[in-house]
Amino acid sequence: MIVCSCNNINDRKIREAHEAGARKTKDVFKHCGTKPQCGTCIRYMQADLNKLTDDMQKAED
Ligand code: FES
Repeated sequence: MIVCSCNNINDRKIREAHEAGARKTKDVFKHCGTKPQCGTCIRYMQADLNKLTDDMQKAED
């Protein structure tokens, strides 16, 4: 599913960025070699990152 339509960033790319250490949206854009444009996706992208971090921490417990 596309999360950032301006930069064609989907949930798979966000997961890859998270696995590479991204915890903030700016890290995802950097990982993808892009920059935020309209900003509409920021809230959703950060929610995705937070969920991935929560899931990772639960898996470690
Ligand atoms: S939808 Fe992500 S910057 Fe526009």
